[in-house]
Order: sequence, then structure tokens, then C-alpha cells
Amino acid sequence: MERSNVICHMVTSIDGKINGQYAREPLTEQTFGFYYETLFTQFGTAMAVGRATNVESLNVVGRAEVDFKKYENTEIDDEDYVIKDPDKYYFLSFDRKGKCNWAKSHFEHLGKRLLIVEILTKDAKKEYLAYLREVGIPYIFAGESSSTMDLNMALIKLKTKFGIENVVLCGGAVLNGAFFRDSLIDEISLTVAPYVEGNRDAKSFVELWADYNNTPYPLKESTPIPGGGVHLLFKKSEG
Ligand SMILES: NC(=O)c1ccc[n+]([C@@H]2O[C@H](COP(=O)([O-])OP(=O)(O)OC[C@H]3O[C@@H](n4cnc5c(N)ncnc54)[C@H](OP(=O)(O)O)[C@@H]3O)[C@@H](O)[C@H]2O)c1
Repeated sequence: MERSNVICHMVTSIDGKINGQYAREPLTEQTFGFYYETLFTQFGTAMAVGRATNVESLNVVGRAEVDFKKYENTEIDDEDYVIKDPDKYYFLSFDRKGKCNWAKSHFEHLGKRLLIVEILTKDAKKEYLAYLREVGIPYIFAGESSSTMDLNMALIKLKTKFGIENVVLCGGAVLNGAFFRDSLIDEISLTVAPYVEGNRDAKSFVELWADYNNTPYPLKESTPIPGGGVHLLFKKSEG
């Protein structure tokens, strides 16, 4: 395949919710344990996350106070800025306008040192690009503007420029929905915690503002998770 393969890997309640009260229950901790254990070992070394979820990660990883004025006169070209991690451990931040101010280029997650890659559009400001270069964070452009972000282009660049075979898509609902709408999710891996969330305001694992898509994803594997949860792996039907 010309692009990276995409496996959407999520923790959900029995009713498919990705946030809510159930996420704080003790048995859900065991589901999260299975989720984290399998992320890098079974699915891939590059995890992809949407900008809204990243804002939560920034609280953990560290947010930089950036003085963008200092970059006002920095000359910057329109090209992708590629730095490769030798072990291909990446945190792919889907951030169309360039809003995530990371304090550093790497962070530790599940015992691995992940190199952040910003996936932007040309809506990102030159000053933001200059800051990323100074911190040593690579970036690629996937389209001219936020409203026309091209996720297929992003996946082709991630494969050809970074050598990423598998992207593990870790949410949230909006980013998963955008990949699903563009028929770019190849496998769906759900670690289901043994609770019904029941709250209609909680998000489901894929949110879609588009027509129903009838692509079948037949079950490939199911594995019980200690604590009463289950892991379900679905694979898109070929053709
Ligand atoms: N249970 C789980 O496994 C799990 C996993 C992850 C997250 N979560 C939960 O999910 C919630 C956040 O999810 P969310 O759905 O609100 O947000 P999200 O999917 O994390 O981020 C959405 C944002 O991503 C950016 N984006 C980048 N590329 C995009 C594209 N092609 N199309 C659309 N948007 C794109 C947009 O921000 P810009 O307009 O700024 O670009 C958009 O608003 C949090 O509560 C988090 O805890 C749960």
C-alpha cells in the first residue's frame, strides 16, 4: 500500500463511549492495562491523536510558553520538515492550525521515547513552524487549509518520509470520524470495559457528520480481558 495502514485502537464502554464515568471505575483500569500493553507491542509504534485530546496530553507532557513575536522575521520555507526516529516511535499530533505548544520534542510513554510529529495544514502560521524547528519537532503539511485537510496525503507522507507502516489511531471521536469518513480506517481494535456508560453526552469512538457508510468490518479476533472486559478486533472487508 502506498500509505500507512491505519488501526483505530480505543477503550470504550459496552455502549461504545470513549469518555464518561465508566472510565474511572476500577475494572476499567484493567481494560486500560490491556489497551496500553497491546498498543506498541501488537499494533504499531506510531500513535496518532487529535488536537483536542492533545490539549489534555499537554497538561501531562508540559506546555511551552512560546513568544511567537521573536520568530516574526524568521525566514521559513513551505516544505515539510522531516526528522526521523531511528526506532520509529512517534506521537503524531493532528493539529490543523498548529495550536499545540509542546515543551520538548520527545516524551516518555509506556516505556518508549516518542518523537512528536505535527501534522498540519498551510493554515499553521510561519511563527509556529519556526518554533517547531527550534524545538526539533518535525512537521508535515496535509493540505492547503483546515477545511480541506487531506488525511490520505498525510498517510502517504508518513509512510514515504518517515517509514511508518502502521499508524495506531487513538482518537478522539472527531479525528477517528474524519479518518472513517475518508475510508482510511483499515482495522478497528476496541478494548471494551464491562460497563454501560448510558450518558448521551459522552462521545462514541467515532463521530461522523456525514452520510452513513455501509463498509463492513467483520470480526477477526476476540480476547477476554481480565476484570470482565473484552478485546474485539475488526478488519475492513476487501473490495
Ligand atoms: N477512550 C479512549 O480510548 C480515548 C482516546 C482518545 C481520546 N479520548 C477522549 O476523547 C475526548 C476528545 O475527543 P474529541 O473528539 O473531542 O477530539 P479529538 O478527536 O481528540 O480532536 C479533534 C480535533 O482534531 C483536530 N483535527 C486534526 N485533523 C482533523 C481533521 N482531519 N478533521 C477534523 N479535525 C481534525 C481539530 O482541531 P483543530 O481545528 O484545532 O485542528 C479537531 O477539533 C477527550 O475526552 C478524550 O479524553 C478517549
